Amino acid sequence: LENGLARTPPMGFNNWNTTGCTATFNEAFVIGIADKFVSAGLKDAGYTYVNLDDCWALPSRDGNGNLVPDPARFPHGIKYLADYVHGKGLKFGIYSSAGTKTCNTNGFPGGLGHEQQDANLWASWGVDYLKYDNCNNQNVDARTRYTAMRDALANTGRPIVYSICEWGRTGPPKVWEWGADVGNLWRTTGDISDNWTSMISRVHTNDDLAQFAGPGHWNDPDMLEVGNGGMTDTEYRTHFSLWAEMAAPLLIGSDIRSASSTTLATLKNTDVIAVDQDALGRQGTIVSAGGGVVVYNKVLANGDRAVVLLNENTTTATVSTTAAAIGLAGSPSYRLKDLWSKATSTTTGSIGASVPGHGVVMYRVSRGDAVPNRHEAEAATIGQGV
Ligand code: GLA
Repeated sequence: LENGLARTPPMGFNNWNTTGCTATFNEAFVIGIADKFVSAGLKDAGYTYVNLDDCWALPSRDGNGNLVPDPARFPHGIKYLADYVHGKGLKFGIYSSAGTKTCNTNGFPGGLGHEQQDANLWASWGVDYLKYDNCNNQNVDARTRYTAMRDALANTGRPIVYSICEWGRTGPPKVWEWGADVGNLWRTTGDISDNWTSMISRVHTNDDLAQFAGPGHWNDPDMLEVGNGGMTDTEYRTHFSLWAEMAAPLLIGSDIRSASSTTLATLKNTDVIAVDQDALGRQGTIVSAGGGVVVYNKVLANGDRAVVLLNENTTTATVSTTAAAIGLAGSPSYRLKDLWSKATSTTTGSIGASVPGHGVVMYRVSRGDAVPNRHEAEAATIGQGV
């Protein structure tokens, strides 16, 4: 959606993967997350949006037809929370559904037929991001329902990132075929669970949709599970690497108030985040696949490539490709940076590694004959190397 927002994939937090609808989802929790964004350096790493998911409202609208925050969870209301989050220099998001009720079985009110009233209320609270789900949609055409809320959000005059949560289940036309005109991102899969099989299946459902992604309009293979405990740290690094390679939104879904140092290190890998946030906005594509190993390639704004060597087997495997295969033929040498170990090396063209089971090796690949960037050039001039 060309509303000036989400020129790179949104980064932030959403509570759903850790709290669901439980009582843990409340004001103190959200404040704790916002505080941790600042104290743990997540804000500095680029995470911006603190988003609420389903179950924030009461089951009924008030006498004026307005949505009402659940006072047991949010005793000071939602504007108070949005103000708090803004006070930390962050942005604030909320959830609803393009149906008569949301997706939770408790059936909180949805936005169908209330688009402008709800958009106005959220804008008055200072909402910066809306995740708009697809449940209880009365079989009204999806594009029509989502376009109604797009227009309602625009009418508020407030910049609000618009996240379509349609799952790609209906159509044709599929949500990715119309999404770029309607929203800033759209779900391409059903809900992720905190296990390897679920995570890798989101990736492969998203694999052939790269042509639909770009600045302002992204494929969304669902939120991160990093830190929730159902995968190993190796698997979480794979998860995070693949989301960056896919130019997916990076919405943290674990309780970072008690995150391990390993979880924080994964989420704060600035080299991997830079791949996700690259200004060209390309989603990575498959170069080769077979025998449980896959090579992904993402073209970056400065001409570099981000390569993910993925091993889906449970035991170590060698995964390899070439500079020519990733579209970088013609240089006498290439520089590789391993974005997890930070080791640098050079190659005349073969790019490969021994990759642990369920792991990745992720390289940033540069042409050796490329003009070094200014920093490198200056360092060379004063004899420091880099
Ligand atoms: C759907 C969405 C989830 C979450 C729940 C909330 O399942 O896909 O991401 O928002 O609804 O009920």
